[in-house]
Amino acid sequence: MRDPVTGELPVDPYVPDNRHAGATPFSGPGMAAAFGGQDGIRRIASRTVELSEADPRIAAIFASHDMVRLKRTLFEQFCYILNAGCDYSGRDMATSHKDLGIRMRDMNALVENLQAAMREEKIPFAVQNRFLGKLAPMSGDVIAR
Ligand code: HEM
Repeated sequence: MRDPVTGELPVDPYVPDNRHAGATPFSGPGMAAAFGGQDGIRRIASRTVELSEADPRIAAIFASHDMVRLKRTLFEQFCYILNAGCDYSGRDMATSHKDLGIRMRDMNALVENLQAAMREEKIPFAVQNRFLGKLAPMSGDVIAR
């Protein structure tokens, strides 16, 4: 049953740790500012999820998972890595993706959706690429085959 306050489904217990975010944050305020602070980051995280849910290449992977939770945890992860003043309370990348059977081409589709979301928010291309550089090393934990 969904939590009446957060709208999220319950998950098995775990101990939250910022290290679960899978990358060390940028230092200084520059990246957070370039993303439009927490508001801009929240729009980008939510939009990435919405584009992916509607993307025929990868929609099936998201079906029957909790997109309310994913929008929140993805926001927190992005916000933490961009040094925009958040802690990441979600699970680590290996645990989160272990039963999803994600392939390299699924990863590429998700990155394209994130790029589209960043483009819509007019994030400068060089800034987009700096951020993607933090996420790229996580593919090993996300991709199953
Ligand atoms: C570097 C790339 C990726 C990052 C940074 C990332 C980030 C995350 C985060 C933060 C969570 C939430 C963890 C939690 O609930 O505690 C999550 C879960 C999830 N991710 Fe990813 N993800 C990536 C790649 C992908 C790809 C390529 C797909 C599918 C095409 C995907 C599908 C999912 C799904 C379906 C869930 C929900 C799992 C569940 O309900 O247990 N992710 N991801």
